[in-house]
Amino acid sequence: MDFATRIAAWQALHGRHGLPWQGPADPYRTWLSEIMLQQTQVSTVIPYYQRFLERFPDVAALAAASQEEVMPYWAGLGYYARARNLHRCAQQVVSDWGGRFPATAEQIATLPGIGRSTAAAIAAFSYGERSPILDGNVKRVFARHFGVEGDPTRREVEQRMWALADAQVAAAPQLDMRAYTQGLMDLGATVCTRGKPACERCPVADTCVARREGRQQELPSPKARKTVPQRQTGMLVLQHAGSVLLQQRPQSGIWGGLWSLPEFAAEGDPLDAARLLGHEPAAHYRLADFSHTFTHYKLNISPWYVHVQAPAALRDAAAEGVATRWMAAAELPSTALPAPVKKLLEGLFEAGLPGMPAADGLQASPSLFAPFPRHGART
Ligand code: ADE
Repeated sequence: MDFATRIAAWQALHGRHGLPWQGPADPYRTWLSEIMLQQTQVSTVIPYYQRFLERFPDVAALAAASQEEVMPYWAGLGYYARARNLHRCAQQVVSDWGGRFPATAEQIATLPGIGRSTAAAIAAFSYGERSPILDGNVKRVFARHFGVEGDPTRREVEQRMWALADAQVAAAPQLDMRAYTQGLMDLGATVCTRGKPACERCPVADTCVARREGRQQELPSPKARKTVPQRQTGMLVLQHAGSVLLQQRPQSGIWGGLWSLPEFAAEGDPLDAARLLGHEPAAHYRLADFSHTFTHYKLNISPWYVHVQAPAALRDAAAEGVATRWMAAAELPSTALPAPVKKLLEGLFEAGLPGMPAADGLQASPSLFAPFPRHGART
């Protein structure tokens, strides 16, 4: 027997029945339930669905209500864009479709908040249309049963799955679309689950690629980890008389307008970098590296501690248009610092450093220092 017919037959016997939206076909009720069920599980949805329908029994009632009247009936379901789209959708059905829900999946998919799979579910349940669904659960079923490799959220993999979805329906001309659609959902939710699929209860286990090859845990393929580019930078913690030198970042770009530590090329010499700013180093240590992840890249930071005995005036950096200042420990809480820089400086101020007046009772913490072969000793 073909795949789809076995799923539909299984649904009739073992699927979920008697759910409140499984009564006589009604596109409004089907639509409402499918939107509520998009990111929320059945048991949570049931009371919301019933209350919503009592207050808004048809699409005209919903369209006539204001957004403020609708929201309380959604409060607690989460993903509130769904409720706003639902309301806009009802108004469009009234204004553009004469108050009658559009009759094909293709038309339904033009409404706000309704994607291809949800439109197909609504059309299949309401009109028995032979349009297949492909939601997250179904993708898992397909990846395993048909051995589809690749991350199913990728466009190209998803397109292969849509082709498979179409092919299953095409191969079963007598298919009960309601039973098949509900059966796919039920199979994904109750049998072909993510963690521990119950293959012994699966109606299509004997043709399942993942089961045959023992690869249920490998399929679907996990999302490819996005590899973020990495950048390196050196940072100077120039310290004089218990204060640390800060520079203001340009307004645009990362940490725009915040006060941060002077940076230098990661492979460069921190002593040269200090001298370039006009300050003659008295002692220096390499501090422990840390990193910070931005949206588009990861910044690996090598901080150097440099004690300055006789600082030059601050005009050097200022001459290049970079606002520069010395910051004392007491100013730390009120200074706009990038979070990782703030954390570093808090640790340093707390620990106390050579040449820095130690905080009461605290000793310099050796754990903050990483030995460095060439520049490790005091100069
Ligand atoms: N999830 C989405 N649609 C559903 C439905 N019709 N029944 C059960 N769970 C669902």
